[in-house]
Amino acid sequence: MFNKKTILGIETSCDETSAAVIRGNCVLANIVSSQEIHEQFGGVVPELASRAHIRLIIPIVEKALGVAGIAEKDVSGIAVTYGPGLVGALLVGLNFSKGMSAGLGVPFIGVNHMEGHIYGNFLSNPDISFPHLSLVVSGGHTMLILMRKHLDYQIIGKTRDDAVGEAFDKGAKMLGLPYPGGPVIDKLAAEGNPDFYRFPRAYLKGVTFDFSYSGLKTAMLVYLKDKSPGYISENLNDICSSYQNAAVEVLVKKTVRAAEEHRVRSVGVVGGVAANSLLRKWLADEIHGIKKDFYLPDFAYCTDNAAMIARAGLEHLNQGELSSQSLNANPALRLGDKPV
Ligand code: KG4
Ligand code: ZN
Repeated sequence: MFNKKTILGIETSCDETSAAVIRGNCVLANIVSSQEIHEQFGGVVPELASRAHIRLIIPIVEKALGVAGIAEKDVSGIAVTYGPGLVGALLVGLNFSKGMSAGLGVPFIGVNHMEGHIYGNFLSNPDISFPHLSLVVSGGHTMLILMRKHLDYQIIGKTRDDAVGEAFDKGAKMLGLPYPGGPVIDKLAAEGNPDFYRFPRAYLKGVTFDFSYSGLKTAMLVYLKDKSPGYISENLNDICSSYQNAAVEVLVKKTVRAAEEHRVRSVGVVGGVAANSLLRKWLADEIHGIKKDFYLPDFAYCTDNAAMIARAGLEHLNQGELSSQSLNANPALRLGDKPV
């Protein structure tokens, strides 16, 4: 049941400065400013991210309130990411939120970035049924999370090394493509042959629900070693398609097996990599094939955004779970950890 509390959400865990206003399950504003400064370095530079957040946080929050048509006094609570992420980046959003909540005298709610991603799916699909299995795939995480009810997380699989988003980004970098590589590979792969070259699929046949993506990255490095720039550019679509196919097949097959084994009612895929077109289609087909509900967040709630943080914060607020002003940023925060 929803009450119509108005939540201001703030997200600064990595290289997106974002503020959003939601009322119940309705998103009134979701402003995301992506820091382009990192592009030239092929990855996020932590200190540059913190400085950009400091510069952007006030204008972005003001813009979100303006677009939503909400006065500060109408805010019922402030939800902010306090981990995992880059510590300097997290501190900007966290300290800003603490100050604003103290100033306005409204509750302050620390949110785990990964639970934010999961709740992005509830923004798009309020009727998700439990038990729910969520495949969480981003630049830093690859996890299968079993939820029996709201805010209840059991990690049944996780990556033992790199995240799938990192495999996309690093693979793209080796091909000379810009950062972030996931969307670029996705686009190029659409015109390519997935069977052009067989990249390895880690743990596909094993019983574990864990993942491994470092081998895929290495396989790309080895594959490209004796290839000329001309050969690479001539076959770029096929290489991207084959690489993407290897990355996505493991995600799909493991998720389907976990859904059956844990007898869930519904399955979702969230996080930046949930924007991948092959993953969205392939997983939807397979999950419908085993007669379970399948839910995808809208694109706007896949990559980092503050609306998903506000939605998770609302769930905590509804259950009376508020944070104290002594809450600290936790770069290594795990799902299910209690705020300290
Ligand atoms: O969730 P997110 O925005 O930030 C983190 O919390 O990490 O995820 C970013 C990741 C990057 O690795 C990016 O390359 C990947 O999501 N990504 C994609 C696509 N769009 C974003 N990967 C594959 N296909 C896409 N279309
Ligand atoms: Zn994220």
